[in-house]
Amino acid sequence: MAQSPSCAKLYAAPGNPGIEAHAECVAIAADDLDGLIAFVKAHGIDFVVVGPEAPLVAGLADRLRDLGVAVFGPGAAAARLEGSKGFTKDLCARANIPTAAYVRCSADEAHAVLEGFSIPVVIKADGLAAGKGVIIAETREDAEAAIDDMFDGAFGGAGAEVVIEEFMTGEEASFFALSDGTEVIAFGSAQDHKRVGDGDVGPNTGGMGAYSPAPVLTADLEAQVMDRIIRPTVATLAAEGTPYIGVLFAGLMLTDTGPKLIEYNARFGDPECQVLMMRYAGDLAALLHAASTGALADATPPAFASDYALTVVMAANGYPATPEKGGAIHGIADAEAGGGRVFHAGTAREGGQIVAAGGRVLNVTATGRTVTEAQARAYAAVDKLDFKTGFCRRDIGWREVAREAD
Ligand code: AMP
Ligand code: GLY
Repeated sequence: MAQSPSCAKLYAAPGNPGIEAHAECVAIAADDLDGLIAFVKAHGIDFVVVGPEAPLVAGLADRLRDLGVAVFGPGAAAARLEGSKGFTKDLCARANIPTAAYVRCSADEAHAVLEGFSIPVVIKADGLAAGKGVIIAETREDAEAAIDDMFDGAFGGAGAEVVIEEFMTGEEASFFALSDGTEVIAFGSAQDHKRVGDGDVGPNTGGMGAYSPAPVLTADLEAQVMDRIIRPTVATLAAEGTPYIGVLFAGLMLTDTGPKLIEYNARFGDPECQVLMMRYAGDLAALLHAASTGALADATPPAFASDYALTVVMAANGYPATPEKGGAIHGIADAEAGGGRVFHAGTAREGGQIVAAGGRVLNVTATGRTVTEAQARAYAAVDKLDFKTGFCRRDIGWREVAREAD
């Protein structure tokens, strides 16, 4: 955003020690809707890009639009695409969008519904659960236990309703599209690594690393995703009076019978955004503003560098369960000296140094002509960092690196 010629002044709420160099940080939490709206009014802000899902689901974009402010991000009704898994599954059913077979159920129905599914089976809390509300049950006992846990409040209010889903097999990929409510354009692909450990083992996380583009999503498959998944979603929401303005992030399973939707997010992914932005070459603020003002049809089509970008997440020891806070981080300038970029996530400034302040802490990012080259450069940068209480996966990009070696 700061690199956009059309952006004269950029504020970030609340920001972190990384974005500080590019935007004026204001100490307002992302879920403090009243505080954000007061700030927008006081400073005459004319364009807001809403990053995370919680304020979208809570209606921040609606409230800003009511004030006449251009907003990139869906209103609460359309943000249900991320906020309610059951809502998205029902929309897929109405619009004939390929996705896993499913049943939405309440506590008294779930065990009977489960009997109709084969194993493995997927049990999901309906609401927002910070990426943790999905259980892949390998046995019937595990599925029963997952259902009981969700209705017992393991994910708080998110688990008041549960979705039981058919288990799909295939390779996963992420696809992005920008929508102004009616027009929709493709905005690149990526592949995330959700499990905490090398070789895709251990618990799910928010994402431990990603690369872009994801060649497994060929031009032909991308065209299918636009025609069968993205366009019907945007058209259905528009027809129902809840147009989608913002970025649609489709989590896809590339099955033997074509791409199927796993889930939608109503925002750029983290860390998918980092690799998309390393490759995006245009005026981002102008493009997102066009999407926010019904002007996408006339906007300059997005241009991406042909190079690959790859990012490695440095997380605090103990992540995802109990990340250790306060560990010092040195060497960020050294890591960037070779041309890479270190994006901050959960960092804070403490006594003149940068310390870990969250689960995922840094995103060490590099580009290359191949995924193999981008990977080598990203890990060379990782090795320049001195972050004793942190760790990372050492195999980000492994699927594509193996294909490139063939
Ligand atoms: P979600 O939060 O919905 O993206 O789910 C988290 C992860 O669970 C996905 O990235 C998939 O790896 C897996 N998953 C979710 N739903 C299914 C499904 N129906 N079949 C197979 N894997 C799934
Ligand atoms: N990396 C996946 C997400 O942002 O949901």
